[in-house]
Amino acid sequence: MSDYLWFEGMPLPAIGYKTEIIADARNKFAITDEDTVILTYPKSGTNWLIEMVCLIQTKGDNKWIQSEPSWNRSPWVETEIGYHELLNKEGPRLISSHLPMHLFPKSLFSSKAKVIYLIRNPRDILVSGYFFWSKTNLVKNPDSLETYFEWFLKGNVLYGSWFEHTRGWMSMRECDNFLLLNYENMKKDTRGTIEKICDFLGKKLEPEELDLVLKYSSFQAMKENNMSNFSTISQDVITNGLKLQRKGTAGDWKNHFTVAQAETFDKVYKEKMAGFPPGLFPWE
Ligand code: A3P
Repeated sequence: MSDYLWFEGMPLPAIGYKTEIIADARNKFAITDEDTVILTYPKSGTNWLIEMVCLIQTKGDNKWIQSEPSWNRSPWVETEIGYHELLNKEGPRLISSHLPMHLFPKSLFSSKAKVIYLIRNPRDILVSGYFFWSKTNLVKNPDSLETYFEWFLKGNVLYGSWFEHTRGWMSMRECDNFLLLNYENMKKDTRGTIEKICDFLGKKLEPEELDLVLKYSSFQAMKENNMSNFSTISQDVITNGLKLQRKGTAGDWKNHFTVAQAETFDKVYKEKMAGFPPGLFPWE
């Protein structure tokens, strides 16, 4: 179990992250107009989206996703390794991040870089995070889901409050260079989501190329791809057999929350997410 690295009140893993890098990422890192940025709060389906975007770039050819880990294909700008990799990468780059808006590289906001923000029902994110982080050495492990539930509502989990993350980035939702996706629709209409991403990125794929994107980014295909299932992560970080592809469903929280927890969550959610138009979030 590691202590967190705290950055401006936000807990981050102590392994792989450094205060100076996170500060440099915000103040010095240059996002260019050619970059594509994949933004999520952790456990929203980040790696699934990365897989789709990579496969769209290669028009369904799976060589790239089979030969390079996802974190090299689309490095995390806030991590020590990712930051340096991005500095040395030729454009157009794919950049991933879980940072909240106020800590993200400032250069984004004066660029025409394309931003894809993927959201997911925070209840499912909570459950996914609980099972995922407990199999790593990256966090203080909670003794039960009940404890993690409390931490999550207070924002005392990696990358801080889901509510703040979402409120922050959603303020960009009307911008032309911003595509808002949600995990629930990605599950319901995966092909339609891939088409949406293609349109946004200005990529024209033939129907059979789209079939390949669909095939190689499926839950089963990613589970079997060692470059996309986290099986190559160092043993210093992993404990008890970490699996990225756990269930891959929408609504798993119903199998884990008690009635009282569901009510508490609803109450906090309503308070913190007040003001958004109805119908914006598919889980409401
Ligand atoms: P569960 O833990 O609910 O199964 P992230 O990539 O942001 O860490 O998100 C991980 C979540 O995305 C996990 O959710 C994982 O199973 C799900 N996921 C990963 N690949 C997927 C795929 N191809 N299809 C559907 N869900 C996927």
